[in-house]
Amino acid sequence: MDSILVTGNGPLNGQIPIAGAKNACLTLMPATLLSEEPLTLTNAPRLSDIKTMTALLQSLGAEVSSLQDGQVIAMSSHNLTSQTADYDIVRKMRASNLVLGPLLARFGQAVVSLPGGCAIGARPMDLHVEGLEALGAEIELKDGYLHAGAPGGLKGAVHEMRFASVGATENIVMAATLAKGTTVLKNAAREPEIVDLVECLRKMGAQISGEGSSTIEIQGVDRLHGATHQVVTDRIELGTYMLAPAICGGEVELLGGRMSLVESFAAKLDAAGVSVTETQNGLKVARKNGRVQAVDVVTEPFPGFPTDLQAQMMALMCTAEGTSVLEERIFENRFMHAPELVRMGANIEVHGGTATVTGVEALKGAPVMATDLRASVSLILAGLAAEGETTVSRVYHLDRGYEHVVRKLEGVGAKIERIKGE
Ligand code: UD1
Repeated sequence: MDSILVTGNGPLNGQIPIAGAKNACLTLMPATLLSEEPLTLTNAPRLSDIKTMTALLQSLGAEVSSLQDGQVIAMSSHNLTSQTADYDIVRKMRASNLVLGPLLARFGQAVVSLPGGCAIGARPMDLHVEGLEALGAEIELKDGYLHAGAPGGLKGAVHEMRFASVGATENIVMAATLAKGTTVLKNAAREPEIVDLVECLRKMGAQISGEGSSTIEIQGVDRLHGATHQVVTDRIELGTYMLAPAICGGEVELLGGRMSLVESFAAKLDAAGVSVTETQNGLKVARKNGRVQAVDVVTEPFPGFPTDLQAQMMALMCTAEGTSVLEERIFENRFMHAPELVRMGANIEVHGGTATVTGVEALKGAPVMATDLRASVSLILAGLAAEGETTVSRVYHLDRGYEHVVRKLEGVGAKIERIKGE
C-alpha cells in the first residue's frame, strides 16, 4: 500500500488549480440514467470514486467513456441491462445509492444495496426512502437490498424532509423530474452540488426551480434529453488547499476558487487571522500576521461550515494560539483524525461530538494512518506544518477525493512524495 512522506518545509507560495467537485460529479453521473440520450460532463476530477461510479453505471449497462485524460466523461444509457446496484460496489462508496432515484423514475423499479456502516457513522437511507415513498414508490428491505417499485409510475407530491440530507435531496429531485405532476420538496439541502445537479437536469429538459433554497419545486416531464455540462469547482478541495498557506505561511492562489462556494469557511479563516481575497483567477490566501488564532467551529449543512472541512480545520487549530472547540453536528464518529494528530504532538480532547483543541507552538512529524478521506488530507496539512518527517499510510482514502495531491502541493514548494508500497 502506498504512503505519503511529508517534510515540514516552511512557507508555501504559488498557485494551485482546483478540480471539478467530486460530490457534484458523483450525482451528475447517475443523472445519465434518466435519459436515453448521451450526457457528457466536462471538468470532471480524476479520482477513484469516479472510477467506482463508472463501474457501477457500466454494471447497469450504461456506456461510460473517460476522455481527455479523465476530464471528460461521456455517458449513454440508451441500452441499460440491469436495475440492480450490487453490494460489492455500494459498500465501497455510499454515493452509489444515487442510482436509486433515477432508475426508479425511468424504469419504475430499482434494487439497491444498503451501504452498510461506514467509518464516519451509521449513514442510513431512511430519508431517501421516505421521499421516494412520498412520490408513490413502494420500497422494501430484503436481504440487505432496498427493493423499490413504482408500477403505476411516480407521482408528484409535497414532501418535507426531516433533515436536509444532501443525497436524499439529490435522489428525490432526480426521481421527481420524470414523475407525473408537481413535486415540492421542503427542507431540501442547499449545497452548491445540488444547484449544479439542477442546472444539468435543466439542460436535459427538466423543469425545476428553487435550487439553492430550502424549497425545490419540480414539474415532472415525460422524458429528458441529452446535454453537456461542466462540473462545478470542488469547494472542499478548495477549502483544503486554502488551509495550506494558513498552516504553513506564505501566499497561495487557488485557481478557479470562488468566495460564494466557501463563504462561512472563509469567514472562520478571517476570524483566525487568515485573509482570503478574490482575484481574477480565483482566491488568494495568506496569514494576516504571525500565528493563527483559535476559533470555534460548528459543522452544519450549507451554507454553514462544512463537515468535510472539519478535519482539515482541526489541523490548523492544532497550531493556533489559544483553545478552540470544534463541534461535529452532521456525522457521529468523525474525529478519527484526532488521535493521529495527537501522535504528532497536538493537544486534543474529544468528548462525544465535541473536540477541544489547544494549540501548540509546533507539531512533530510522526508515522500516522489515514482513516477516511478528509482525515487523510488533514494529516498531510499537519505534516506540512510539522518539524521533521510525517508518513501518512493508507493513502487510498486520499485517492478517492484528491487528484494529484503531491503534484499540487509540490507546485507551491511543499516537500512531499508518494512512496510506492508492495
Ligand atoms: C454528502 C457528501 C459528503 C458530505 C455530506 C454532508 C456526497 C457524495 N457526499 O453525503 O461528502 O460529508 O453530504 O455534507 O455528496 N442521514 C440519515 N438518513 C438518510 C440520509 C442521511 O440519517 O437517509 C444522515 C447521515 O447519517 C448523516 C447526515 O444525515 O449523519 C448527513 O448525511 P447526508 O447529507 O445525506 O450526506 P451524504 O449525501 O451521504
